[in-house]
Amino acid sequence: MIVKNGNIFHLQGKNTSYMFSVNESGDLVHLYYGKKLRDKKYDWYIRGNSALSSCDASGKSLDAIPQEYPAYGYTDLKMPAYEVLNKNGNTVSRLTFKSYDIVDDIHPVDGMPYLLKGDMRPQTLYITLEDKNAGIEAILSYTVFDNYDIIARNVRIKNISGTKMTVQRAYSLALEVPKSGYKAVYLNGGWGNERNIKETEITEGIKLDISVARGASSHDINPFVMVADKDADEGSGAVYSAVLIYSGNHSTTVESDRYGNIRLLQGINPFGFAWELEDGEVFETPQSILTYSEQGYGGISRELHDVFRNNLSRSKWAKKERPILINNWEATYFDFDEEKLLSIARCAKEQGMDLFVLDDGWFGVRDNDRCSLGDWFVNRDKIPSGIDGLAKKVNDLGLRFGLWFEPEAINPDSKLYRAHPDWIIRVPGMEPSLGRYEYLLDLAKDEVCDYIINAVSDILRTANVGYVKWDMNRVMTDMPYPGYNHKFYLGFYRVMSTICTSFPDVLFEGCASGGGRFDAGVLAYMPQIWTSDNSDAVKRLQIQYGTSLAYPISSISAHVTAVPNHQNGRVTSLKTRGDIAQCGVFGYELDITKMTEDELKELREQITDCKKLRPLMLNGDFYRLKNPFEGNICAWEMAAKDKSEAYLMCAKVLSEAHEREKAIKLCGLSADADYLDTYTNTVYGGDELMYKGIVPKFGMYDFATYTVHLVKIEN
Ligand code: DGJ
Repeated sequence: MIVKNGNIFHLQGKNTSYMFSVNESGDLVHLYYGKKLRDKKYDWYIRGNSALSSCDASGKSLDAIPQEYPAYGYTDLKMPAYEVLNKNGNTVSRLTFKSYDIVDDIHPVDGMPYLLKGDMRPQTLYITLEDKNAGIEAILSYTVFDNYDIIARNVRIKNISGTKMTVQRAYSLALEVPKSGYKAVYLNGGWGNERNIKETEITEGIKLDISVARGASSHDINPFVMVADKDADEGSGAVYSAVLIYSGNHSTTVESDRYGNIRLLQGINPFGFAWELEDGEVFETPQSILTYSEQGYGGISRELHDVFRNNLSRSKWAKKERPILINNWEATYFDFDEEKLLSIARCAKEQGMDLFVLDDGWFGVRDNDRCSLGDWFVNRDKIPSGIDGLAKKVNDLGLRFGLWFEPEAINPDSKLYRAHPDWIIRVPGMEPSLGRYEYLLDLAKDEVCDYIINAVSDILRTANVGYVKWDMNRVMTDMPYPGYNHKFYLGFYRVMSTICTSFPDVLFEGCASGGGRFDAGVLAYMPQIWTSDNSDAVKRLQIQYGTSLAYPISSISAHVTAVPNHQNGRVTSLKTRGDIAQCGVFGYELDITKMTEDELKELREQITDCKKLRPLMLNGDFYRLKNPFEGNICAWEMAAKDKSEAYLMCAKVLSEAHEREKAIKLCGLSADADYLDTYTNTVYGGDELMYKGIVPKFGMYDFATYTVHLVKIEN
């Protein structure tokens, strides 16, 4: 609910309140973000907060005032939320209140994904600010939902100067909170090593600048941050978080000032960015999601998981159980023919899988990664039946058929490049740089986007393709002008939105050299994302654990692959690989035709298990119980929202002599109910499981897992 009481705007979520006001000078002053306050007429200025009331009268400085959308240079000297080079040749600005509006709906962001209404009752507050001197109008949007503790924010900047101006930075939000002993928690990594959890203490100065200019949201830094009380942990403590619904270059900064405030900014990375606006034109930022929880990191994650599952995805698959797939990539790489593919598919069906996915190498003359990207025509030497024929054969086996594309990329050795050398991203006069032997297509051009839409659609129209793996395998370089990256992503979102709308039954899975574009912008169209090319079960403990900080388990694609693992050579048991992949969108990526009958028997049991666990993994509340970044043990749990069922997975990395395992305490159960562990037929009390805990029985070997599947016993 959003109310205005006097000069104070009060935004209420389920358990939270967010307040700001318009002071006597028209500045938008942040007042409060935290546990829910009753809706009443507050008079905080009068009660001793005069510092907030005006900054004109006695030389009071904006520097000392927490603001909703601060500028640099007019008495505030910290990192600004926006910067516009105006007709006078400077960037000094002061936006003051002009008007407001409250509507009973979400705010649809132009050309980019945003939170949908779902079955919630959202309200959006629009605040219009104006700086007549600089010729800027800014409309801040704040959307709240009746049953969430989130605030979706974005900004539109309009040129009202009568002439051209340049937006040099426009963050989606600023949040200023009174300083205490805070730490920042964020996700960083690299290829095969995505989303490590990192913490840093927030002391004075710009203590965090997690900005990315690699062209995509990247393996390196995820567009997500938590600002937490220094004592906060998984289960308790006050935590603020911000996550951006965006897939391009992004930036999150945290600055701690001399007045005892912390300023958090999140949005498009200002580095490499500039956006020219003619008079009357508008620049709109992506949407950023704020969350506050007093239940620690876990509280933030569960809130984001719910929001992303229910209000972000445009796909009808978001709430549907996902098919258990087999992907041929690690089974064959480029070396396959139709018979080999069908033998894998046949075997997959016999074990109970739902979907066969044909990965890279089916088009052009692509026998390695050096050619043919862009030529989306089947290679009949490898697949004589064509994609339509192969899809039919796979369908006839009783499986859905899935297909890999990398539509944003092109090899110089391709028919498409020879026909359209001008379609790539490049700097005029400079040799364009290659990454994995490929260029990126220039999605800022409408005709290039149309080509991609048509090329992919033609295949989806002529063959019965039920799933698409949408890959993208290089960083973006050679950007021809500042702001190019954003133009590219506007093109990308148009492509995604057109294709996903035209083919609503197709399940899309995002991918970017593993998990190089795991963000809420992609999730809006593709409800699951390949999490990492590193499929080693032990490394996946960390990667999946870290990813779950912001993103739901139902988005985290996880496959059982062969051993020794192709990325790091580690050998783990089939059980360990299966148990760890179960907490994700489960699948296989190995040559099952080479497995022994004993292995296949175990695999069938995993599949049966997965089918049993799928609804829980799709809808439950996720609890991280033991952090694999901090020790030898990892544990996580998925608990049904109605407390009727839970799944616990514990893993031990290295076996130790004379081990004394500690009990793992579960969460989210009914204390007064009894639960049956369906694996061992043991009955536990909910109170016992939560307060005393359960001791994992790992056995004396490395990389061991222990799982418990609990079902509430109805009396
Ligand atoms: C990178 C992906 O992450 C892999 O899963 C695979 O699809 C390859 N690309 C294919 O080139």
